[in-house]
Amino acid sequence: MWPDRRPPPPAELRAAAREADGLLCLLSDSVDADLMDACPRLVAISVYAVGTDNVDLAAATERGIQVGHTPDVLTETTADLAFALMLAVARRVVEGDGLVRRGEWPPWEPSAFLGEDVNGATLGIVGMGRIGSALARRAEGFAMEVLHSARSGGLPLAELLERSDFVSLHVPLTPETRALIGEDELRRMKGTAVLVNTARGEIVDTAALVRALGEGWIAGAGLDVTDPEPLSADHPLLDLPNVVVTPHVGSATRRTREGMADLAVDNLLAALRGERMPRLANPDVTPSATRPAP
Ligand code: DGY
Repeated sequence: MWPDRRPPPPAELRAAAREADGLLCLLSDSVDADLMDACPRLVAISVYAVGTDNVDLAAATERGIQVGHTPDVLTETTADLAFALMLAVARRVVEGDGLVRRGEWPPWEPSAFLGEDVNGATLGIVGMGRIGSALARRAEGFAMEVLHSARSGGLPLAELLERSDFVSLHVPLTPETRALIGEDELRRMKGTAVLVNTARGEIVDTAALVRALGEGWIAGAGLDVTDPEPLSADHPLLDLPNVVVTPHVGSATRRTREGMADLAVDNLLAALRGERMPRLANPDVTPSATRPAP
């Protein structure tokens, strides 16, 4: 058990895991082929997250190592936060709270502190999997028009970006989705549009996003994930008033984190018993009960 709040440095993780049969890791732990080869007994990697971009899945599959993750239990909770970020940015919730705390409560004026309506607006969902679909259900209650763009169908991304008032990202981080939203994509969005990212920071080109927000190509952004993570306090994104950033807490409710913990442990124990993990992220794996030394 790693005792610190900060993730273990790679060399320490490697040394500590050397004799392990199973590894329960967080999304901040990079689990690559070198680490797997340094742990010859390893048959199970259980990720305490739905995203498995921190694990080299192909390397695990090649080595007969099952990789587990925690889908479903965090879907609704993460969709809640995506919706909260939309509302927070559009209605300038954090900015308003800041004014009040600084003793700068502005006079009530007809045209002061205006934001944009979420109700009745057009929401573009990029990636219509579990969390994207859960966000779409919430949008119905706000009488939003919902567009989507996904591998399995929907609109071309460019059209979705041009038509949406809010664009929310719900794709996994893969080589194909890295920097999916760059300068070209941001320039396609409306000047009044808001970008929301609760997926992975690397899906957005951060330098382009800073320019887009600073130069008014888009109106705002709500980010629960950033590239890099953590974001230092002097990062240019944080100089911008039209950005709300939360520290990767999409799944952070008591009930959901307990559900994730239960599932991560169930995955781990199943593989250690020689069974198939209930939520396997590399279904093509042929699990090896014991691994030969490399
Ligand atoms: C995940 O599960 O991938 C989130 O980023 C953390 O809950």
